[in-house]
Amino acid sequence: MKPSCPVQDRTHKKDTRHHNHGGGNGGGSAASAAAAAAPPALPPFLFFALLLATLFTLFMLFSPSPLTIKRDLQQDGSSASIRHQQDCDLYRGHWVPDFRASSYTNSSCATIPDSKNCFRHGRIDTDFLNWRWKPDGCELPRFDPRAFLGMVRGKTLAFVGDSVARNHMESLLCLLSQEETPVDVFKDSEDRFRTWYFRRHEFTLKILWSKFLVMANEEVINGSSTGTFSLNLDEVDGEWAQEVPTVDIAVVSSAHWFFRKLYLYEQKRLVGCVYCNEPNVTSYGPEHAVRMSFRAALDHINGCSRRTTTLLRTFSPAHFENGTWDTGGACARTGPYEEGEIDLGGSEWGFRKVQMEEMERAKVVGRERGKRFGAVDVTRAMLMRPDGHPGEHWGNKWMRGYNDCVHWCLPGPIDVWNDFLMAALRLEGGMNS
Ligand SMILES: *[C@@H]1O[C@H](CO)[C@@H](O)[C@H](O)[C@H]1NC(C)=O
Ligand SMILES: *[C@@H]1O[C@H](CO)[C@@H](O)[C@H](O)[C@H]1NC(C)=O
Ligand SMILES: *[C@@H]1O[C@H](CO)[C@@H](O)[C@H](O)[C@H]1NC(C)=O
Ligand SMILES: *[C@@H]1O[C@H](CO)[C@@H](O)[C@H](O)[C@H]1NC(C)=O
Repeated sequence: MKPSCPVQDRTHKKDTRHHNHGGGNGGGSAASAAAAAAPPALPPFLFFALLLATLFTLFMLFSPSPLTIKRDLQQDGSSASIRHQQDCDLYRGHWVPDFRASSYTNSSCATIPDSKNCFRHGRIDTDFLNWRWKPDGCELPRFDPRAFLGMVRGKTLAFVGDSVARNHMESLLCLLSQEETPVDVFKDSEDRFRTWYFRRHEFTLKILWSKFLVMANEEVINGSSTGTFSLNLDEVDGEWAQEVPTVDIAVVSSAHWFFRKLYLYEQKRLVGCVYCNEPNVTSYGPEHAVRMSFRAALDHINGCSRRTTTLLRTFSPAHFENGTWDTGGACARTGPYEEGEIDLGGSEWGFRKVQMEEMERAKVVGRERGKRFGAVDVTRAMLMRPDGHPGEHWGNKWMRGYNDCVHWCLPGPIDVWNDFLMAALRLEGGMNS
């Protein structure tokens, strides 16, 4: 039989015991017990530390100041006239004060991971919670867990990407858990693939881990990892790609792993590199690798027979100031930037542009196949939120003195990504509730 979605699966996960748990046929609790019994390969803390350590090496290779503040105003302030709600760009706007409390706290959401539980680790200021995103010309409805669960009833939603994708899922999990407590039905041995099930709404929520979306192998020299990766730009990472036939909604993201030395292959031939500085190898910027990886990922989804709705979550900026992650860089601000303080000429906006172009490209192809593509375009809003990261308040014993200015506190401004997600599913996914 012809597979509905061909994947070259050279590197199958070792542990696929409890995948595909949608459908709500009562298998959840057994799987959950099994998952709980499986000992993790590394203590979660240590795993996270290693993950973050590798993630952070990007900032040494990347520009010396990831976020430069620019004072010249962007020329888009002419939005006094109220446009039609449907024409309104939800992603163009600013943060306004809002004193309604967050819809969850670290006591009402049981699944906040320790590293994002900023208040638990000594964060005292709470003003960063008192802002709401206000698009120019319309309103962004606040996330409504009941309406959301109604909209996704019987469906499977998968986040595909790195630890920031996971951060997004963790925010959604907290927001939804105020309406229904999810059951933890699957966890792989490294806690990179995870499945939650909302029994009452027959809704399955997954994180499918992928650093680059395409096949990648880390160079190992004399038994030690080098942090240099070889990417096969024309071959998707089978670990997530093989799951597409079971996914109704995919939220695809990734970017932070691309700012390191990479060798790029197409059809098994070396076609270039990123930061390798070798005279015989064509040199590309990381955005080229981002572009080609997203192209492969979205093409793969378009090649599957399932009518998956795909949302590309755009680049999530980091905010190290006064140094890089390993030279004392910090993110200790307690309030947002104004629109005129962010830099839309920098590399962050460049990655977002590449991602949007690839999304639009896939959309044209998908239209003929009855598939929908859209964006959860968080870049501009999050460039304005240097105050939303854990900073020093991430409780990591192994990396004292280092700041996490990449991930986002829960609760916190990352929760707006789910306001955007809900709006995007309605507008671009054609879903109603
Ligand atoms: C929640 O945050 C408070 C500080 O606001 C902290 O004292 C407490 O330990 C946290 N609770 C949990 C369950 O993490
Ligand atoms: C690998 O180890 C051998 C023996 O210790 C050493 O001679 C060689 O230089 C090492 N290679 C690299 C690339 O470090
Ligand atoms: C570049 O390629 C040429 C021709 O294949 C080869 O002779 C030369 O050694 C290469 N140089 C480097 C630095 O790899
Ligand atoms: C960076 O340094 C400036 C000047 O010393 C200081 O005012 C600012 O608070 C620092 N920023 C952070 C995030 O530490």
